[in-house]
Amino acid sequence: SANSMWGGRFAAGPDAIMEAINASIGFDRRLYAQDIRGSRAHAAMLAATGIISDSDAEAIGKGLLTVLSEIEAGDFPFQTALEDIHMNVEARLKEVIGEPAGRLHTGRSRNDQVATDFRLWVRDQCDAAIEGLRALIRATVTQAEAGADWVMPGFTHLQTAQPVTWGHHMMAYAEMFGRDLSRFQDARARMNESPLGAAALAGTGYPIDRDMTAQALGFDRPMANSLDAVSDRDFALEFLSASAICAVHLSRLAEELVIWSSAQFRFVSMSDKWSTGSSIMPQKRNPDAAELIRAKIGRILGATVALFTVMKGLPLAYSKDMQEDKEQTFDAADTLMLALAAMTGMLSDLTANRDRLEAAAGIGFSTATDLADWLVRELGLPFRDAHHVTGSLVAMAEGRGVDLPDLTLEDMQSVHGQIRQDVFNVLGVHKSVASRQSYGGTAPDQVRAQIARWKEKLA
Ligand code: ARG
Repeated sequence: SANSMWGGRFAAGPDAIMEAINASIGFDRRLYAQDIRGSRAHAAMLAATGIISDSDAEAIGKGLLTVLSEIEAGDFPFQTALEDIHMNVEARLKEVIGEPAGRLHTGRSRNDQVATDFRLWVRDQCDAAIEGLRALIRATVTQAEAGADWVMPGFTHLQTAQPVTWGHHMMAYAEMFGRDLSRFQDARARMNESPLGAAALAGTGYPIDRDMTAQALGFDRPMANSLDAVSDRDFALEFLSASAICAVHLSRLAEELVIWSSAQFRFVSMSDKWSTGSSIMPQKRNPDAAELIRAKIGRILGATVALFTVMKGLPLAYSKDMQEDKEQTFDAADTLMLALAAMTGMLSDLTANRDRLEAAAGIGFSTATDLADWLVRELGLPFRDAHHVTGSLVAMAEGRGVDLPDLTLEDMQSVHGQIRQDVFNVLGVHKSVASRQSYGGTAPDQVRAQIARWKEKLA
């Protein structure tokens, strides 16, 4: 039989496959709370403007709360034939309160309704991401504080570069996650306008009050253009883009944890809570959570690309294509929140191995730059010449299988006659990091200052 919501001009119901491709209730039921909240705001506004009676609005408002509790109790008869959450709720409202239910949809369309519901949902997800990132940054800062002056190798190309501190390395991620957090804040602020009242696309002839519904739903103002209001999903694209960037950061840290927890590195030990064993190899402690966080970017980026692709060629205003916005965004949001929580937990329970970090810090001639800088500072060599002299000394040390501080003064002088005993003062890894006092550098004082700035921001 024809659809009870729009079946007036239809003689027959849809083909079963038509129903299957068209229905979104399987996933958009997740918007029930937003849908009911939006409908209650709309009904209250219809009464305040005299478009419907107070008693009808009251019946609608109450009935919607009944429907809400039915859904929350898991006691709601979702019907695929009713396509989506909007029509499921309205149809049930009709069963609960009868005739007044038919007045709810006055001056409204499913187009502005879904845009409103989805915006409210994505806005909540921005808040959840912001909260999750705060917790993660806190965990990062705590790690940094524990080892603000612990030396470790700093890498470029994953080859020994210069010694850095554990605190410095951790705080690098605090900065990245801090920018992620501000991206979600920015996106939230931009999306916080109400599409409700745009109706199908052109606005409505009823004397509605869009400011009233905007305010009731916590939006800053109504969207300025009704065509735009029902047409765009840029708020979801922004959320997905911010999520994808955040997932890249999570993935890079996860990758480092995978490397660092290997027997060859042993820079960190993961707690039992965040490790798994092997059914065949008894020695195994696998960093599965880190590996999965590393992999989750695939889903989030996939969702981002999918929604960009859905949107890119759509003429204004609403097209049914846009129903494909939800599953992607739902999955990306769930994935991001899980990855944030897992990384926070893993990092909180992680032990950095100070001795291993320090032992590794000197491997691979990590203080060669300090030697070159000494030649510039103390002997007045041009940096390029100092670089060359140091390179010869590194080659000599490498030939003998020792590190730079293991060369003798005579060895040094055989390459450059003016080198003095005090050159050895700069060849230690602790001296090296302590000297990097430039703003944002790896010197423990700088790292502690950075930690202090973040603690103030998080307070
Ligand atoms: N389920 C639809 C969606 O998610 C709701 C809007 C339907 N509007 C329409 N004119 N068919 O996009």
